[in-house]
Amino acid sequence: MTKPESRAARLAPETYGTPWALRNLPPFPGVAIQVLQILSRDDVHVSEIGKLISVEPVFAADVLQVANSALYGLRSRVMTVSHAVVVLGLERVKGVTLTRAFGTYLMPVLGVEALQRCWQNSLAGALLAEKLARSCGINPDIAYTAALLRDIGRLALLVNYPGPYANMLAVAQENGYDLMDVERNLFDIDHCQAGCWLMDSMALPAELREVVAGHHAQPGDEPFGLVRLVRVADLMSDALGFGILVSSTAPDFADVLPELPETARARFPFDAEELRTEIASKIEILSQGQDLSRAKR
Ligand SMILES: [Fe+2]
Repeated sequence: MTKPESRAARLAPETYGTPWALRNLPPFPGVAIQVLQILSRDDVHVSEIGKLISVEPVFAADVLQVANSALYGLRSRVMTVSHAVVVLGLERVKGVTLTRAFGTYLMPVLGVEALQRCWQNSLAGALLAEKLARSCGINPDIAYTAALLRDIGRLALLVNYPGPYANMLAVAQENGYDLMDVERNLFDIDHCQAGCWLMDSMALPAELREVVAGHHAQPGDEPFGLVRLVRVADLMSDALGFGILVSSTAPDFADVLPELPETARARFPFDAEELRTEIASKIEILSQGQDLSRAKR
């Protein structure tokens, strides 16, 4: 496979500052960066995030659209971002904000179906992590944000090199290659490494960095926590048909369930088709106005 023309060198990223594949990356939306930076603080007042989002009216309207959608089933209409923070809670508004910010960031490349699938995969994993979290004793809103950020490295690579990334997906699809291997072959960095570099560059919390670094790793004997939850949500996305590749090697839904703690399996009503329909309709709601709902599966 031919590498993108702009590769400057084959040096290992750690010897070279910014990995070449992440150089000249279009900046993340300002509001996303500020929300991400708030993630690392525990002294945030609810009014702070409301003000931050309200500064950008188009963005604030986006957040309100999601807050008022069927996703949250609120009885009364939320008219201001500050009100949304009060009604939905700070953590959830962070998740909604990041979702819209990344959706906007990816807009220029979402005309390519293969890249659209990547974003849908991110959303499906976030929604599944949120849904599974409570039965695993984990805060659902934090689970959502962590799972949404798990592939931030992939989103950056595909925004920076949409054509090569889409070609890479096609080659991986055709030959059954491992996606992390082909990422390293093409970009000298895989999406987990790219994500860690981005998390470090924004000084994001270690807990989220661990998710980015470890969501594809085989679990050891550590207790079930955020990294393992996001890993299961990721596998479940593939099993339910929201994978990045249209693959016959996607895991079987029944084979993913044993990865959950027994208490979660006992408490959670698992019906694969019902879950797939629910996640698909939530993705559609989250994608309203962003023209993602036309993606084929
Ligand atoms: Fe990933």
